[in-house]
Amino acid sequence: MEAYRGDSYGEAFADVYDEWYRDLDDLGSVVAFVTGELASSSEGTGRGNPALLELGVGTGRLALPFATAGWRVTGIDSSRAMLDRLAAKDPSTTVTAVLGDMVDDMPSGSFDVVLAGYNTIFNVLTAERQRELFRRVAGVLAPGGCFVVEAFVPDDPPRTGSDLTVRSIAANAVVLHASVHEPDHQRAHGQFIEITEAGGVRLRPWSIRYAGPAELDEMAAAAGMALSTRVASTDRAAFDDESSHHIAVYRMSAQ
Ligand SMILES: C[S@@+](CC[C@H](N)C(=O)[O-])C[C@H]1O[C@@H](n2cnc3c(N)ncnc32)[C@H](O)[C@@H]1O
Repeated sequence: MEAYRGDSYGEAFADVYDEWYRDLDDLGSVVAFVTGELASSSEGTGRGNPALLELGVGTGRLALPFATAGWRVTGIDSSRAMLDRLAAKDPSTTVTAVLGDMVDDMPSGSFDVVLAGYNTIFNVLTAERQRELFRRVAGVLAPGGCFVVEAFVPDDPPRTGSDLTVRSIAANAVVLHASVHEPDHQRAHGQFIEITEAGGVRLRPWSIRYAGPAELDEMAAAAGMALSTRVASTDRAAFDDESSHHIAVYRMSAQ
């Protein structure tokens, strides 16, 4: 999608993100799942307040509940508008926010958990950059730490062509969703098109490069990590061929 930049998604969605995606997850279940995964590591106990790095932290939808639960939380995001929303919700700065690209500007340090929630890994738009992301995550994981990736499972066969659907409709506004699918490149792009009587047209673009579970596992392996857990949801529903989403937990392979 021409003119789409690293901060395009965040800049376009920051004002509606919390309202549109408020009900995505049971946030207590997310925190409990990640906490349980860290505790199940042979080196995962007795480390005091664990350190979390969230990639694409956005408005802090996930990061803030971790901070409330006592985690030391760092979040990186390429969008100033998203981080401004986070700051407004976090007046005492419980989350250390970093403005930057999750691949190029990976915060240094040692993190017990690195988290890429809600398909955020697919915001890295080429396979090569996604591989590099896995390598950089491997470089900041503490001993016994893990990389938690939550993502959709691409359709098989993959979606093709284009779609136009209605997201919401009211007497004075309509939000349409247009998307285009490029299965040969594992790419999809879209626009949420908000039309209001008062405000005219507002475009909210998105663009992703998706990868299936096997490809993510292979990228992790190339970075020295191995899959330790895959479930369909944070309440540990079993992952199977019918699952539309997965949560994968990667740990450094034994040397
Ligand atoms: C789908 S949102 C998820 C936000 C948050 N993790 C959540 O679950 O609510 C993706 C976030 O990643 C950010 N993002 C996209 N590409 C990025 C990049 N290359 N580096 C850092 N952040 C990026 C966007 O600005 C956006 O805030």
